[in-house]
Amino acid sequence: MISAVLILVLTYLLFVFYQKRTELRNFLNVRRICLEEFEKVPGPPAVPILGSTWYFKSDPVEMTRLAQSWFNEYTLSPNSNGLIKFWMGPVPVVSINRGEVAKIIFDSSTNITKSSQYDKLKEWIGDGLLISTGSKWKFRRKMLTQTFHFAVLKEYQKIFGAQGKVLVDVLKLRANNTYQFDIMPYIKRCTLDIICEDTKRLAFLDYLIKSQSEHPEILTDEGIREEVDTFMFEGHDTTSSGITFAIWFLGQHPEYQQRVQDELDEIFGDDFERQPNSEDIQKMIFLEQCIKETLRLTPPVPFISRKLEEDVLIPHTTKSPVLLPAGLNVMINIISIMKDARYFEKPYEFFPDHFTPERVNSREAFAFVPFSAGPRNCIGEKWRRVVS
Ligand code: HEM
Repeated sequence: MISAVLILVLTYLLFVFYQKRTELRNFLNVRRICLEEFEKVPGPPAVPILGSTWYFKSDPVEMTRLAQSWFNEYTLSPNSNGLIKFWMGPVPVVSINRGEVAKIIFDSSTNITKSSQYDKLKEWIGDGLLISTGSKWKFRRKMLTQTFHFAVLKEYQKIFGAQGKVLVDVLKLRANNTYQFDIMPYIKRCTLDIICEDTKRLAFLDYLIKSQSEHPEILTDEGIREEVDTFMFEGHDTTSSGITFAIWFLGQHPEYQQRVQDELDEIFGDDFERQPNSEDIQKMIFLEQCIKETLRLTPPVPFISRKLEEDVLIPHTTKSPVLLPAGLNVMINIISIMKDARYFEKPYEFFPDHFTPERVNSREAFAFVPFSAGPRNCIGEKWRRVVS
């Protein structure tokens, strides 16, 4: 009886191995190359079987501190190229912590596939624009980019203004209280109300339905649901985090808060009822600097990751270039890229003057990438600017 069970189990395992033989071969190939190339890349120690995960912390704050200490230890030396290696069990992973290195991946029109880390998210929001790849992504990206034209965004401004007023009215009820409260749930409800009104409204949902009638074979009902879910998730989670942190930083720095208030008083005078229009937004120069500084210090999307479709060579100052093979998972640490002391004189401080026009013009574009960059950058960036 036992031997019959063993034979069955063995047959099943052989069958699985046979079915997955190509993936297994690819994985072993990636592992083989990495074992060699990782000689040139620093990173936390790895133990057998569990790899570097042995050192991970379950508490998110402790894990963040640990990640920061690895970042300091492995990437701040002058001859580092900003790469850190990890072994997630037997699986090799590389993290990128320098803008000029991330640019190599950002600029690629081939390395656009998301890594398996996004699979959990897929169960929730489906295979929409954020996660899909290949021709499916290309078609939808082209189609949805039109929805984010500035002309259409102008239409949305009325919604932003009206929902912003609801938020202010609700917060007024709290204004005279002396005790602290968590502002995040209020901001979240406001951004969710905005995005729900937008995505169901003419310009977005109707646009998707119109595209479906033109290309029914490409955009199914399921596809429309994926995109509405994706935009609702991406649109409110990121903006509420950004706005909440901006308010928190301004609360910590009354001198900057005063400058923001002076700027708004200059624009609106004593008219507390008027809704901001595009011209007003153009004049909110210092406020925009504060928002950018917030996104730099506490980016709502702190890291992203890709599965390489083709080999990438990363230059090194003192060693031969590092080969990252196709199939490798690469993490791009947006949060650490934007703390680079070569580009920001006070990397860990809230200093809105990092974004004066002179400083912005003299800095490399890849030093500030809260919306990622290249063909897979954030499609909602302009939208975010108007909401904020
Ligand atoms: C402060 C606000 C925002 C930040 C910091 C942000 C950041 C990002 C980043 C870093 C990515 C790349 C993700 C990756 O490669 O895994 C991304 C993609 C995306 N974002 Fe945003 N986002 C913001 C607001 C929005 C808004 C308001 C919308 C929609 C209304 C939106 C929709 C999307 C979509 C659909 C993608 C996927 C684009 C693609 O792969 O083609 N985002 N965002």
